[in-house]
Amino acid sequence: MIHAYTDYPLSQLHTFGMEVCADRYVEYETVGELRLLLARLKSEWADKPWFHMGGGSNLLFASSRYEGTVLHSAIKGHELVAEDEATVCLRVGAGVVWDDLVGYTVSKGWGGMENLSLIPGEVGASAVQNIGAYGVEVKDLIVAVHTLDVDSGKERVFTNEACEYAYRHSIFKTELKGRYVVTHVTYRLQKSPCFKLEYGNIRAQLELMGGEVSLESVRSAVIAIRESKLPDPKKLGNAGSFFMNPVVSRSLMEAIRLRFPDIPYYEVDADNVKIPAGWMIEQCGWKGRSLGRAAVHDKQALVLVNLGGASGADVMALSDAVRHSVKETFGVEIYPEVNVVTSK
Ligand code: EPU
Repeated sequence: MIHAYTDYPLSQLHTFGMEVCADRYVEYETVGELRLLLARLKSEWADKPWFHMGGGSNLLFASSRYEGTVLHSAIKGHELVAEDEATVCLRVGAGVVWDDLVGYTVSKGWGGMENLSLIPGEVGASAVQNIGAYGVEVKDLIVAVHTLDVDSGKERVFTNEACEYAYRHSIFKTELKGRYVVTHVTYRLQKSPCFKLEYGNIRAQLELMGGEVSLESVRSAVIAIRESKLPDPKKLGNAGSFFMNPVVSRSLMEAIRLRFPDIPYYEVDADNVKIPAGWMIEQCGWKGRSLGRAAVHDKQALVLVNLGGASGADVMALSDAVRHSVKETFGVEIYPEVNVVTSK
């Protein structure tokens, strides 16, 4: 069924928690309904812009009114579409809540998603953003992304390769932005889990909790680490990491290391490394600081928070100030990971 509303408040539907109202908010449950809606966006609703939102966990509304149509998928459910001795393939509706899916796969004993526990958002966005945490990116699990072409309404299936995945990147964020809507995602999971415990303090957290290494215990460890560092959006509005970790040349990192011998970094390739933006922001003295009602989180400097009553413009002003400091201090540009939504 299609549910359409006018003058619809979005405050509960995005994690930054600002008061935002959309001219029109429309939710659908099937691919056929989405096709009908895409046709309406080109006819009776064509005078205003539109955008498709997921769980609202990676969004910043630039203003308090979205003058257009907001679409949201309520395509739910999952289906086992292939199985062999070692793996299963699961086709999942774009509107399924990501962490519900992780909980389900862990309960079935299928490995692959456990390090991605508690990431907010929905299945459709997982494939667009290439969500990642604790040494795993969802691109490692994706077999196919099922979409509808916005112009023709025809179905198109993208293989993993066709999605051009890279760190926090897919073709749907750049070249094909706004051209396709994800309806389902197919993931491949392992029947005999292969644990990835080397990243960050997962192993230390597991030892602290005691007991065996299992899908359940890794999921619990990741949840405990995330809860200790990342603010709960129900209490403090935020969109997770506000910035991406920049990839810089090895020579620039070496030059920075002369001044900051403890700089952390991750290998990318022979010529490039990735520097944690949170570390640079903390070195610039921003951790825990606020500008108006927006602040840099005091436990993880990569996260910007709404202290209550912040506007989208307040958060953007803080983002600009932080980016300026990082550029001045390190000569490195950092870019928001969060999608800034504007209807102008
Ligand atoms: N660091 C600091 N100060 C800070 C934050 C981090 O010095 O305030 C240092 C840490 O000590 C560590 C390094 O930076 O040496 C990396 O920190 P962390 O492991 O917390 O991860 P991150 O690079 O800051 C990324 C993801 C997170 C994900 C974690 C864990 C991005 C943009 N963010 O953060 O993803 O949970 O790794 O894998 O890649 C998200 O996307 O919303 C998100 C939370």
